[in-house]
Amino acid sequence: MTSLTKRLEDLRAAFALSAGQLARLSRQFADAMDAGLTGQDSCLKMLPSFLGRPTGMEQGRFIALDFGGTNVRTLLVELHGGGLLTVRQMLAASLKDTTAGYDYTAPTVWAEELFAFLAAQVATVAAAGNADSLGFTFSYPCRQTGANRAILLHWTKEIATAGVEGKDVGELLGTALARRGLGHLAPAAIINDTVGTLLTAAYQDPWTDIGSICGTGHNTCYLEPAPPAAPAPMIINMESGNFDAPPLTPFDAALDAASDKPGQQRLEKMAAGRYLGELVRLAAASLAAASPCFAAPVWQRADTLSGPDVALLVADTSRTLTQIEHWLSSRLGLASALAERAALKEIAALVTARSARLVAATYAGVLLRLDPTGQSRHTIAIDGSLYEKMPGYAALLQAALAELLPAGAGHIRVRLAKNGSGIGAAVAAAMMNEEGYGTSK
Ligand code: GLC
Repeated sequence: MTSLTKRLEDLRAAFALSAGQLARLSRQFADAMDAGLTGQDSCLKMLPSFLGRPTGMEQGRFIALDFGGTNVRTLLVELHGGGLLTVRQMLAASLKDTTAGYDYTAPTVWAEELFAFLAAQVATVAAAGNADSLGFTFSYPCRQTGANRAILLHWTKEIATAGVEGKDVGELLGTALARRGLGHLAPAAIINDTVGTLLTAAYQDPWTDIGSICGTGHNTCYLEPAPPAAPAPMIINMESGNFDAPPLTPFDAALDAASDKPGQQRLEKMAAGRYLGELVRLAAASLAAASPCFAAPVWQRADTLSGPDVALLVADTSRTLTQIEHWLSSRLGLASALAERAALKEIAALVTARSARLVAATYAGVLLRLDPTGQSRHTIAIDGSLYEKMPGYAALLQAALAELLPAGAGHIRVRLAKNGSGIGAAVAAAMMNEEGYGTSK
């Protein structure tokens, strides 16, 4: 079918990012960092964390509450010093269970109910073992005035619980815990998940200076050597999901227009796992006139494809694409020709590769600023399902970084910090025990 071939060519062009475009994006990212740090207008919020790098010698037993999306995890973590740690317990819960009939992320639900649910998770883990204190990973943009004071600026990732924006989430959690007789566990530190990822990796590897999440959402933090108005290096949460320089395709524009917050989180909507399935769907729907399979009404339905669906499409390397054939027929009730399955797989690959290349351009932007000549070692720590589970994603990211920073490539290590977002809250709580950097207890 020639027109399918032609339309695919258009999609290839739409999702491609040349080496020149990537290099330009890196520079724009570095400029946006500078502007945000110095209080000028910027798409990057550059939020201070009031935490520096851990020494690796922090010790104790801590509860880490990790609220990052629709899943909440509560961990009991033992830090032994010398970069060693053990996760003693891990309790997972979902904020949304349609069969049980609850959804704590909905705009009709109030802060008190959400935080009572979180406190109940903490209570279960606290009953299993004593903890010195609690660290709270809260993965949304917050204005901090100390390591344990964090005001939610606004929700992202389509969460909409009422009465949280503009509030101190540490106070909300502290009050909910006090109601259960657990006032002593009011958060000692509140951190972004990117900060948790950096802290967890830095606990073991002192070269770590970038922490990032490539999962449901996307964001990056880094260790700023000379933060304005602070006496020592500090980790800065960039909220880089809001980087707005990448060129948009019509599919990005359509996705954005239908989202909760049009115009915001542009990069995140192009790169994060939460949105990749929807981009694949929109691109596939554009093939309707060239193929009976893509003309089916199911392609017009929002959120038909999830991140794991995209992973399945990318992973099928069989000659006849049998897994994709089975998936199309069992999940969507569609018959398909091999050319249609190949087209769908290619779209998934295009969307995934663009995500990895965009993310790499932002890391290169940070490194350009930290180390313009590419002389020193750097570890970039990443947590999240997209980086961990999407076939080929880590390799695409690494390749794009090497393309962007040929001089520094040998010194840059990119590593998975599994569960770093949560474990990092324990590291942060321990750091507060030791010295209390900028705390306002
Ligand atoms: C969203 C949040 C950000 C978080 C990221 C990854 O971008 O705004 O704070 O780090 O998701 O979870």
